[in-house]
Amino acid sequence: MSQHRNITRVDDDLKGTHAWIVTVQRQGNKVIRPFSDGTYGGKKEALAAAIAHRDSLLASHSPFEHQIWVRSRLRRNNTSGVPGVGRYEVFINRKAKHRTAIWLAMWDDEQGRRRTRKFSVSLYGERQAKELAIAERERQLHRVCALKGADSANPAPPAPSANADWLARSQVTVWHPCTQMRHHAQTGSPEHLPLLPIARGQGAWLVDFDDRRYLDGISSWWTNLFGHANPRINAALRAQLKSLEHVMLAGCTHQPVIELSERLAALTGGALGHAFYASDGASAIEIALKMSFHYWRNAGHPEKAEFLCLAGAYHGETVGALAVTDVAIFRDAYAPLTYAATHVLPSPDARLAEAGETPADAARRAAGALEQHLQEHGERTAALIVEPLVQGAAGMVMHDPEYLRLARALCDRHEVHLICDEIAVGCGRTGTFFAHEQAGIRPDLLCLSKGISGGYLPLSVVLCRDAIFDAFLDDSTARAFLHSHSYTGNPLACRAALATLDIFADDDVLTANRLRAQQIAAALQPLAAHPQVRHPRQRGMIAAFDVATDDPHFSRRFYRAALDNEALLRPIGNTVYWMPPYVVDAGEIAHLGAATARALEIALA
Ligand SMILES: Cc1ncc(COP(=O)(O)O)c(C=O)c1O
Repeated sequence: MSQHRNITRVDDDLKGTHAWIVTVQRQGNKVIRPFSDGTYGGKKEALAAAIAHRDSLLASHSPFEHQIWVRSRLRRNNTSGVPGVGRYEVFINRKAKHRTAIWLAMWDDEQGRRRTRKFSVSLYGERQAKELAIAERERQLHRVCALKGADSANPAPPAPSANADWLARSQVTVWHPCTQMRHHAQTGSPEHLPLLPIARGQGAWLVDFDDRRYLDGISSWWTNLFGHANPRINAALRAQLKSLEHVMLAGCTHQPVIELSERLAALTGGALGHAFYASDGASAIEIALKMSFHYWRNAGHPEKAEFLCLAGAYHGETVGALAVTDVAIFRDAYAPLTYAATHVLPSPDARLAEAGETPADAARRAAGALEQHLQEHGERTAALIVEPLVQGAAGMVMHDPEYLRLARALCDRHEVHLICDEIAVGCGRTGTFFAHEQAGIRPDLLCLSKGISGGYLPLSVVLCRDAIFDAFLDDSTARAFLHSHSYTGNPLACRAALATLDIFADDDVLTANRLRAQQIAAALQPLAAHPQVRHPRQRGMIAAFDVATDDPHFSRRFYRAALDNEALLRPIGNTVYWMPPYVVDAGEIAHLGAATARALEIALA
């Protein structure tokens, strides 16, 4: 028989705005698992939560007796209130304004000995301390649910975890990219973005500290090509470490950077003969824009100083790259800082094809707008920058190669550089090694990053035509390209890239990917039949569809549901996409399909 008590004690001496619920589980006289859960904004909120908590325990028919107490959180080392041994509590110990210490106190269940772990004492503010306590509460909540035992109506969440410590520590000190950090802490909110503590990676899988695994369906932000912990890339890096980890590339050179530059130039058929290196994608964009701008100055055309990009374009988030990025959420806050002389032109987005039109027709229409702009402003234009075939951050927006063919011809006619940003779509993603190859063209400047190092190390490179390089040769230093980053051409990163190119050559990856792309298409098919799925689309190893829903929280719901189904998938708005590492096998592609279907059902329920 289950026995429950109501809230047995409320500390009335609470003056502060914080409270805890303490729950104790008893079986007979034995306290089997006392634990604490929760920090709440105030006593009223804590009481309401306690009542809800009690009701859910009652509904769960737990075999244990529970006591639920509400008590002060902000107490100096106050351990009272929990009878018996096995206490497990978090104390937030405010010593002074802006100085908060956090303690984790445990009592050994068997011997009643206290083991206190001070896992964080610092000058953290109270808010950070609270976030840490909230993360700890999550751990405790998992603990009680696990103790309730599995029943089919209320399956138990995962057992207490090693993840929790890492999560708590991360939330206190790491500022994660592209994230409203509050969303990491807001469990229970539709905005909640769970933070994943990853312990290791193997092949297409990521594994957390509790040994839960997730298929990396988006290649860790589109970087990974041949799986995590790839033995061949690992071996190449180990070998490189024995000779040279880093040397500056200004005034020095080294074997990996020379070999990589030669091989990349060869991959462009010799069209792009010089390679300029940096670390991240956005830095490559900065370089390409500056190179084009400076080229025209050196060539006696300083008036050619404007840039063109496409609607929905994403080229990175440094201030220069933001100038050619047309994604409001990234750009708007910094718009006053960005270079004003850019123009956003219509995207050749195949979804914009009207009734009776083909994707190539939509591409021709967008090229018409480019033509009109260049006719009027070509003499002022330095370059057009495009993400060939797939505009990734816009939501895997795909277009017909026809646009690239026409854009190339128009740029030639109006003496405008064509910059291809293949940071996301290069290195075999779209089916050819470079996406632009599918249009039978070459750009004047080509930006690569992400997959070029196999997803191992930050490396980006701008390949350019020799004519551009030549325009910087002069006796004057001011006419040189005076751009540099400390880690430019890092030997380890270049070595990882060489190992990546070796795998392409040795394993005939592009051919193997054709089969994988067919398997991906087959996995996409049943999803395409879903009544709320729109515009299923695929280009090589990228597949996507849009979901017709008004739910502003769809992407978060889907993300969480996918994690629960062992898949790491981050929809962009209402666009769900797959961009898996090239090592996924048929079973893993099927897993991706099944996890996506389940996540879709849950997110739309
Ligand atoms: C097309 C494109 N360009 C540039 C970037 C920026 O690269 P990074 O994030 O390495 O700065 C990205 C990143 O997603 C991208 O997709």
